Amino acid sequence: MSQLAGEAADSASQLVGRTVKVRVPATSANLGPGYDSAGIALALYDDLEATILDTNELVIEVEGAGSDTLPRDGSHLVVRALARGLAESGIQTEGLHLKCTNRIPQGRGLGSSSAAIVGGLALARELLRQVGQDLTDQRLLELANDLEGHPDNVAPAIFGGFTIAWQQSVTDPAGEPTGETMVDVYVHSVHPDIRPVLVIPNGDLSTERARELMPAKVPLADAAENAASASLLSVALISNPELLLVGTSDRIHQYYRRFAYPDSYGLMRSLRKVGIPAAISGAGPSVIVFGVTGAEFDDEALCPVIVEHVEGLEVEQRTEFDVTPIAIDVEGVKSL
Ligand code: HSE
Repeated sequence: MSQLAGEAADSASQLVGRTVKVRVPATSANLGPGYDSAGIALALYDDLEATILDTNELVIEVEGAGSDTLPRDGSHLVVRALARGLAESGIQTEGLHLKCTNRIPQGRGLGSSSAAIVGGLALARELLRQVGQDLTDQRLLELANDLEGHPDNVAPAIFGGFTIAWQQSVTDPAGEPTGETMVDVYVHSVHPDIRPVLVIPNGDLSTERARELMPAKVPLADAAENAASASLLSVALISNPELLLVGTSDRIHQYYRRFAYPDSYGLMRSLRKVGIPAAISGAGPSVIVFGVTGAEFDDEALCPVIVEHVEGLEVEQRTEFDVTPIAIDVEGVKSL
C-alpha cells in the first residue's frame, strides 16, 4: 500500500462512529433572465445527518419531501455526493447511516437536488475536518457543479445570498481552449427591502424534462434583451429594488417551456402585466414573486394579490398553488 493510500485508510478508520450534521437551503435560480447563472438562497432547509458505521451497511432514513420516492441505496444523491467529497482525500468508507429531514419540495424548481448535492459534499467536508483535512468553498463549488451540471442552484446553496455563477472554457496563454472548463461565483447580499413570495404548485416538473424544451438557438434580439435584463437584475437585487420588474424579464427560456407549466406561466404573466416582478423559479414550476418593503406591495400585501391572480386564472391542469412569503438565506450550507 502506498503512503497516501495508507493515510487515507487510516483516516477512514478514524471516521468510524463519527456523526456530522449540516443544514442546506433551498434556492431559486434563473430569476428571469439569469438562465443557468443567477440564483438566491431561501430560508427553507433540508437537514442531513451522517454517521460512519463500522459495518458495510447503508441505512438511509428520509423524513418529509421525497420520503415515498427517494432511493434507499447508493444512488441516493446525498450518498453519491458524500462519497465524491471523501474521495477528494482518497477516503472510501463502507458503512453509512444517513438521516434526511427534507423540507424543500422536490421537482418544483426550488433546488432540492442541488441541496442534496451540496449537503452531501458539506457532510463530507465536516467529516474531513474531523481528521484534519478540508474542502475549500471553491472546491465544493467545482464538485457540486460537476455533479449537478450547471452552477446556478449549487452556488447559492453553498454561499447564501445572491450569486452569479458561471462556467468558462479554460484557455492556454495563447488563447487556445485547453478542453477544460472552470466554474466561478460572485456572491452578494440581497437588498434588505426585497421580500420574495414563493408560489408553489401541487404538480412537479423534472429539470431534465424542462431542459429538453429549450431551443438550440434564440433570436439575437431576445439574447440582447436578456443581457440588459440580467445586468439590471443584479443592480435590482443588490441596490435598486425598483428595477426588479425589468430585471426579472426573460425572453430565452420561460416562453419555450410554457407548455410544461401553463398555469405557472399564466400566473407569472398575469402578475407582470400589472407591474409585479415575477419569474419562474429555476426550471419551474414554482413562481417567485418579489415584494419590496416601502413600495406598493411588500411580501404580506403581495400574498392576497397573488391569490386574486390565481383565482382569475383559467387553470389548465387543476393546479393548486401554495403562496408563502420566504426570507433570503444569508449563510448558505452550514454545519449544525
Ligand atoms: N437553470 C436551470 C434551468 C435551473 O433552467 O434548467 C436549475 O438549475
